[in-house]
Amino acid sequence: MIVTTKALFEVAYGKFAVGAYNINNMEQALGLFEGHRRAQAPFIVQISRGARKYAGPKMLQNIILAAEEMYPESIFAVHIDHGTEEVCYDAIDSGFYSSVMIDASHEPFEKNVEITRRVVEYAHKHGLSVEAELGMLGGVEEDIQVDEKHAMLTDPDEALEFVRRTGCDSLAVAIGTSHGAYKFTGNQGLHFDRIAAIQERLPGFPLVMHGSSSVPADEVARINAAGGALDPSAKGVDPDEFAKAVPLGVTKVNIDTDGRLVWTRVHREYLRDHPDVFDFRKPGNAFIDAYAKFIDHKSEKLLSKGTLETVRQALTKVASK
Ligand code: G3H
Ligand code: 13P
Ligand code: ZN
Repeated sequence: MIVTTKALFEVAYGKFAVGAYNINNMEQALGLFEGHRRAQAPFIVQISRGARKYAGPKMLQNIILAAEEMYPESIFAVHIDHGTEEVCYDAIDSGFYSSVMIDASHEPFEKNVEITRRVVEYAHKHGLSVEAELGMLGGVEEDIQVDEKHAMLTDPDEALEFVRRTGCDSLAVAIGTSHGAYKFTGNQGLHFDRIAAIQERLPGFPLVMHGSSSVPADEVARINAAGGALDPSAKGVDPDEFAKAVPLGVTKVNIDTDGRLVWTRVHREYLRDHPDVFDFRKPGNAFIDAYAKFIDHKSEKLLSKGTLETVRQALTKVASK
């Protein structure tokens, strides 16, 4: 069942984080839905501009609709990840999405407010909610690359002003993470003091954590042992930190890179171990199962595992009011 992102956030806030995963193809969709069936957890499917270029918006929409039919118990929202104004309007007009993200975080504050405000007005008129971004994460995101020295944590006072002036429904905040596989060196981690300061100014307001992949060292080692050449010092977010971020208002956690690592590990190992195989469905099936396992495990870390029935009851209550 496709639901609004807003409704999911109302149930989740302070109790668990909703995992938001990017999909680009059928195999990712099947693993994602199967993983959440196993975990009995709600989730967000998100589509990036890169995914729209790769598979096409229509193909992605129909993959999601087919998966929904195959998994009738599932509860999820469909979201645009890192949208431009143009992509947001196109997605809103399609009538398919639950919510959009307008990412104008690379613009100066006033321009970010102006663009976000415009998208919020249009989205709200059509019944969709809007995620915006303030601050600057490091790493690579779509076609924009931000190096570490230009990455900028979100200023809590600015966050309050930004939310008031734009009317956005959730806010992606820069709290130490970055996109891609190379996030932290040494003992760096999330800036909990910063998240707490933002929550103090915006109590009850859903915060979104981008760049939340964990980049497990054993996954990187297996990829490299099977012919990959990833930097073994790659390091991501400690998955045990999600549970500490949840009470501070982190309600949506974006994970993409880790799924790509699962894909790379499964396919490299499969082709290494089965040099005679050229039936792509064999590694494809292995990936779907491995991705489902991965999703099940993430749901546990996000505290969303086992919440599906509570979510269903809360949504039914809202609908019958
Ligand atoms: O933050 C970006 C997501 O990981 C999506 O990446 O633009 O390569 O699809 P993509
Ligand atoms: P990762 O690169 O850490 O998976 O982050 C994904 C993301 O933030 C998508 O918007
Ligand atoms: Zn992101």
